[in-house]
Amino acid sequence: MATIPAERGLDSTPAFLRDGYRFVSARCDKHGSDIFATRLLLQRTICLRGRPAAELFYDTGRFVRAGAMPKRGQRTLTGVGGVQGLDDGAHTDRKGMFMSIMTPTAVRQLGQLFDDEWRARVPAWESGGPVVLFDEVGRMLTRAVCAWAGVPLPGSEVARRTADLEGMIGGPAAIGPRHWRGLLARRRAEHWAGDVIDRERVGTLSAPPGSALRVIAEHRDSTGRLLPRRIAAVELLNILRPTVAVDRYVVFAALALHDHPAWRDRVRGDDEATEHFVQEVRRYYPFFPVTAARVRRSFDWQGYHFPRGRRVLLDLYGTNHHPALWPEPERFRPERFVGWRDDPFGLVPQGGGEHWTGHRCAGEWITIELMKRAVTNLTGTMSYDVPPQDLAVRLSRMPALPNSGFVITNVRQTA
Ligand code: HEM
Repeated sequence: MATIPAERGLDSTPAFLRDGYRFVSARCDKHGSDIFATRLLLQRTICLRGRPAAELFYDTGRFVRAGAMPKRGQRTLTGVGGVQGLDDGAHTDRKGMFMSIMTPTAVRQLGQLFDDEWRARVPAWESGGPVVLFDEVGRMLTRAVCAWAGVPLPGSEVARRTADLEGMIGGPAAIGPRHWRGLLARRRAEHWAGDVIDRERVGTLSAPPGSALRVIAEHRDSTGRLLPRRIAAVELLNILRPTVAVDRYVVFAALALHDHPAWRDRVRGDDEATEHFVQEVRRYYPFFPVTAARVRRSFDWQGYHFPRGRRVLLDLYGTNHHPALWPEPERFRPERFVGWRDDPFGLVPQGGGEHWTGHRCAGEWITIELMKRAVTNLTGTMSYDVPPQDLAVRLSRMPALPNSGFVITNVRQTA
C-alpha cells in the first residue's frame, strides 16, 4: 500500500486560513500528487483534487456527511440538522423536498422576479451617485427570493434580512468579529424563519402551492412527521441564504465583462454564448474552496488506504482549475464551453455527482438562471462606467469578492 504524501507540522489550519483557495492545490503541486494528508482543526484529514477524486468523493457508498462539516461551519453557514449533514434515506427524503421546488417553471419565475427587481431599480441608479453592485444585487435577490418562496418581507426589513443572509456566508472561514457576526446573523435569521414557518402552519400566511415556504412547512418525513420547527427554519434558510449569495457571482460576472470587454458584444442577445460565459464565471472565480465528508468504511483507492471515519476534503476550486481537466486553467475563456459535454465531476463549483441522490447543490439551475439574467441586464438593458477602484480579488479571503464590491457610475437605461 502506498503512503499518502503528508504535510509536515502539527496542524495546517493557519496555513489553510492564510492560503485560502490555493491551500490544497499549492500542496498538491509541491507533493506532485492530487492527494495528501494533513491535520485541520486538529483532525487527521485527507485532501483531494481532480476529476477521479471528485468521482470518488461523490460515491455515497464510500462517504458519509454526518459529522463531516466542522461545528463552526454549521453554526454559521449551514445551520445544524439541515440536509447537508444527512445520509442515506434521510438525505434522499430531504433532498427530494428541495428538488421538488426546482421545477423549470419555478426557476424561470425566480429569474423573472429578479429581472423585474433589476429593471425597477435602474431609474434610481440613473439619478443617484455611484452604485455598489454587490450591495444592490444582494438586496434585489433578497426581495426576489422572498417573493418567490412565499416569505413576506416588508420593505423596511430588506436591508436587515439581506445583511443577516449575507452574514452567515462569511462566518465559517473567519476568525473573530466576522465569525461572531455570522453566529449572530444565524441566530436572528433562524428566529425569523421559524416564525414564518409557524405562521404558515397555523394558516396566518398562505404561501402558494409548490413555493419553498409551503413545501418546507408541509413536508413530512418517511414516518409521516412534520419537520421540527427549527429544522424547517434551517431548510428555509437553505433556500434564501444561498440565493442571496448569487450576488457574489453576479459581481464576478460584472468583473469578467469589465476585464474581457469583447464578451459584452458576444453575449448580447445570444443565449448560448451567455450560458458559456456564465459557466466560465462559475469555473474561474472562487466561491466555495472545499467540501467535506467522512469515510463510511475503510477502502483502498489508487493504492492508498482510506480508514473508516477519516475526514476527506475535496478541493472544488482546485478541481475547477486542474490543468488535466481545463487547459490553461488560469485564463478566462468562455469558449472552452462550446461543445462541452456536461461532466458532473469536472465542473464542480457547486459540488459534483447527482442532484437528487447525492449532495450536489440543489440550487445550481437557479444560480445559472439568475446569473444569465444579470449578464443580460449588464450588457443589454443598461450602460455604465467602471471608475478606478480596488478590484483585486484576494484568494486568501473566503468567500472572495473584489475589494470594492464593484462600483459603477453614469448608469443609463438603454432598453
Ligand atoms: C451562490 C451560488 C452557489 C454556490 C457556489 C453553491 C455551492 C454549493 C456547494 C459547494 C454545495 C455542497 C456540495 C457538497 O457538499 O458536495 C452546495 C449544497 C447545497 N446548495 Fe448550493 N450553492 C449556490 C447556490 C445555491 C442556491 C441558489 C440554493 C437554493 C436555492 C442552494 C442550495 C443548496 C442546498 C440545499 C445544498 C445541500 C445539498 C445536499 O447536501 O444534498 N445553493 N451548494
